[in-house]
Amino acid sequence: MTAIEPLEQAADRLVGRRTEIEAIGVLIDRVASGRGGAFLLIEGEPGIGKTALLHRAVGMAAGAGMRILLGAATEAERSTPGAAVNSCVAQGDPGGGVPGHQPGSTAAFSDLLGRWCADGPVAVLMDDIHWADAASLSVLRWLSVAVDTMPLLVVVTMRPYPLGPGLPRLLSEFDAVGARRMSLGPLADAEVARLVERSLGAPPEPQLHELIAGAAGNPLYLNDLLDGPAPAAPEAGLPDALSARIARRLEFLPESARHILEAAAALAPRVDPVKLAGILGVSLIDVWHEIRTAVEARVLVYDGDELVFRHDLIRRVLADQVSPSIRATLRRHVEVAGRHLMRIAEPAADPGAPTRNPSTAALDRVAELIEGTVAAATAESLVASLPTPSDPTTVLLFRGLADGDVDLVAAAVSEFERSERPRFAALAGENLAEMLVRNGRTAEARAALDAAATRYETLGAGPETARVRARLRELGVRRGVRGTRRRPETGWEALTATERKVAVQVAQGCSNAEIAEKMFLSRRTVQTHVSNILGKLGLRSRVQVAVAYAQRG
Ligand SMILES: Nc1ncnc2c1ncn2[C@@H]1O[C@H](COP(=O)(O)OP(=O)(O)OP(=O)(O)O)[C@@H](O)[C@H]1O
Ligand SMILES: [Mg+2]
Repeated sequence: MTAIEPLEQAADRLVGRRTEIEAIGVLIDRVASGRGGAFLLIEGEPGIGKTALLHRAVGMAAGAGMRILLGAATEAERSTPGAAVNSCVAQGDPGGGVPGHQPGSTAAFSDLLGRWCADGPVAVLMDDIHWADAASLSVLRWLSVAVDTMPLLVVVTMRPYPLGPGLPRLLSEFDAVGARRMSLGPLADAEVARLVERSLGAPPEPQLHELIAGAAGNPLYLNDLLDGPAPAAPEAGLPDALSARIARRLEFLPESARHILEAAAALAPRVDPVKLAGILGVSLIDVWHEIRTAVEARVLVYDGDELVFRHDLIRRVLADQVSPSIRATLRRHVEVAGRHLMRIAEPAADPGAPTRNPSTAALDRVAELIEGTVAAATAESLVASLPTPSDPTTVLLFRGLADGDVDLVAAAVSEFERSERPRFAALAGENLAEMLVRNGRTAEARAALDAAATRYETLGAGPETARVRARLRELGVRRGVRGTRRRPETGWEALTATERKVAVQVAQGCSNAEIAEKMFLSRRTVQTHVSNILGKLGLRSRVQVAVAYAQRG
């Protein structure tokens, strides 16, 4: 049994995890006493203690007299067929290994297990199956079913992100066959305190308190902190070696996600995707995609409705990756935006001026303010920094207006309604109607205006109701006099004003990136416009757009 002793020693030093160890004990008892098999999946963020717990399970299973196969999938061998299964080594057995089975061969593996199980209970433990190759995943699939008929305990561990191909499907198959799942959360405060004291041999110095809290109950980050030299003072920043080590660990995140997270970390403890999209000049959808990745990887978590970094330590490391000058620029963007917005919010100087929908007026005002001054900023990026709770939906509205995107504006109307802000819903509804009219969707426009008028009426907002009713009458008149102004569905006339501008630039040979920059649109929006243009013109390529444009004269 020599091979498992070092593992047992390490696992014996575990702090906490009592519930988990008890649950594993129950499964081991069940299998060792011939009352059936079990399959257990242990999940948790990097460093939370999956391997340590797995090794504890090895010691427990050995103690209960089970034969043991222990292996691990590795990133380097994620595409080597059968690598994870082949890594399995018999523990405490001088013969070692899994003799004679083909790489990744389910048949050979099952044959060996069949022979072993005929003699007594067996445990198969595999670490890090998020990296398992396809052939090994097939073996795991077989194991998850085999536990029903053999005295077999299977314990596997997995990070929640990134999941290789085939794993999401396998996980639902595990669920379908009744595999147990165990999710490892952070260590409790008292357990953290115990770990710290054990490591330092004394209570921590005050300057360490904040950093320890920043590790958020993750034993690996705690070890990182406690192993190295302590920072001189809390404001002195993290020691370089520690910062570099943690940054390296974050390399599993895609670069695009890290880039967004660095900016988020530099700006504030709270992460606001809408604000980030505005400040970085990236589309909200793109930011949201990266944020979702970070949530899957549990770098970000929800605190109520708010997104925050799960570990302040990680936030600090990410923020450190942003150079001080860029950090200052980011902060300045937020301040500039805030100042502009305060001016926009000021009441109109001329009380006799005709009432306009304030969101359209504000958008014009923002455009005026930024013209020639903050070249890289867009109207939306300024509005994106609106520091009020209505922020996300307001920005959705402005973004929709700026991009000429009916769906975004409609989404803003619904969102205002859902969050019970009828005045904003009515305002946004007016904007939606304007856009629908411009797109020739008169019937929908009238429905949107009707809804806006009803909301204003309910609020007792006289002037606004009158404004909307007038607009409705105008729409009715237009319909009567000029018939429906429906835009044709194909040909140049079918293009919206924005699409036409984009089409001209495509014809001039500009790339999507160049168009995006010139028109202050996101690349994705330009891409959507280009697909719409090709569809409406019945063309397949940008070159064809250029030819068609030239022929049109
Ligand atoms: N409960 C615990 N008490 C004390 N130390 C622990 C505990 N859990 C883990 N550790 C220590 O924390 C470090 C990280 O743990 P471990 O390697 O098990 O994490 P992991 O979840 O397997 O991470 P990864 O996803 O990177 O594989 C190790 O040094 C381990 O010994
Ligand atoms: Mg591990």
